[in-house]
Amino acid sequence: MKIFIDSADIDEIRQAYAWGVADGVTTNPSLLKQAVEKRVRAGQPLDLKAYITQILQVAENTPVSLEVTEYTAQGMIQQGKRLYDMFNKVADNVYIKIPVNPAFKEEDGTHFDGLRAIRELTAGGIPVNCTLIFTPEQALLAAKAGANFVSPFAGRIDDDIRKKANLQFDKTAYFAASGMMEKDNVLEDNGVVSGIDLVDQCVQILEQYGFATEVLAASLRNPRQVRDAALVGAHIATLPSAVIRDMLKHHKTFEGMKLFTADIVAEYAAL
Ligand code: E4P
Repeated sequence: MKIFIDSADIDEIRQAYAWGVADGVTTNPSLLKQAVEKRVRAGQPLDLKAYITQILQVAENTPVSLEVTEYTAQGMIQQGKRLYDMFNKVADNVYIKIPVNPAFKEEDGTHFDGLRAIRELTAGGIPVNCTLIFTPEQALLAAKAGANFVSPFAGRIDDDIRKKANLQFDKTAYFAASGMMEKDNVLEDNGVVSGIDLVDQCVQILEQYGFATEVLAASLRNPRQVRDAALVGAHIATLPSAVIRDMLKHHKTFEGMKLFTADIVAEYAAL
C-alpha cells in the first residue's frame, strides 16, 4: 500500500519525504487554508504559486493532488486544465482533484458535473483524483468516468455514523472496521458499517471489474485505521503527518531499545 501525506504544509511534506515514507501528497482547500494561515501567523510572506511549486519539487516523481474550487463542469474543466498547465511542468506529478458530485443540495442541477469533468480531463491526459466519495456506487461511477484515484473518506463516515447514533466521540478515536452494535442493531450508513467498510466495498467492486482506478483511503485518523485500510487492500492511504508518526510507536519497542542499549558489550559496539 502506498502512503501519501495528507497535508499542504511544506514543512510536514518535507519531513515525510525525509523520513522516506511518502509516495505522494494530497491537498484540499481546507489543508491549503491551514498552511497559508500558519505562514501568515509566522509573519512569512506567501507567494502561493511559488509555494505550490516547492511542494511539487519536494514530491518529485510522486503524485500531488491539487483540488479544484469551481463546481460546474465547465468551471472545473477550465480550472483543472489551468492548474495542470501552470504546475505540471514543474515536476510532471500533478493530479487534479475533482469532487464526485459538486452539488451543494438536492435541487442543484450540477450533480453529474464532477463526472463530466473527470471524463473530459482524463480523456485529455490529465490524471484525476476523485474526492468526497461516501458510497461504493459513487466510486464505481468515478472509475467508469476514468478517474485514476477514488478517495473514500473513511473518517468522515465514522463521524457520521457516530453522530447519527448520538455518540460522544473524539475524531481521532478508533472506530472498528466491523462497525458497532447499538441495541441489537449494527450502526450503518446505507449498508456501510464503517469508513473502512466503505474502503473495502470500493476495493471489491473495482477489483471485480478490473478497473485500473486505485482506491485511495482518505480521512484516516489513527494508525489502526491505516492497518485496516491495508488489510482490505486499499492501494493508497493518505495520512496526516501525526498519524504517520504514530504508526511507528509502541511502548515495548521503546522499552526494548532501553534494554538492548543497557546490555551493549563495548567490544561489540567498537567492531
Ligand atoms: C484527502 O484527500 C482528504 O481531503 C482528507 O483525507 C480529509 O480528511 P479529514 O476528514 O480528516 O478532513
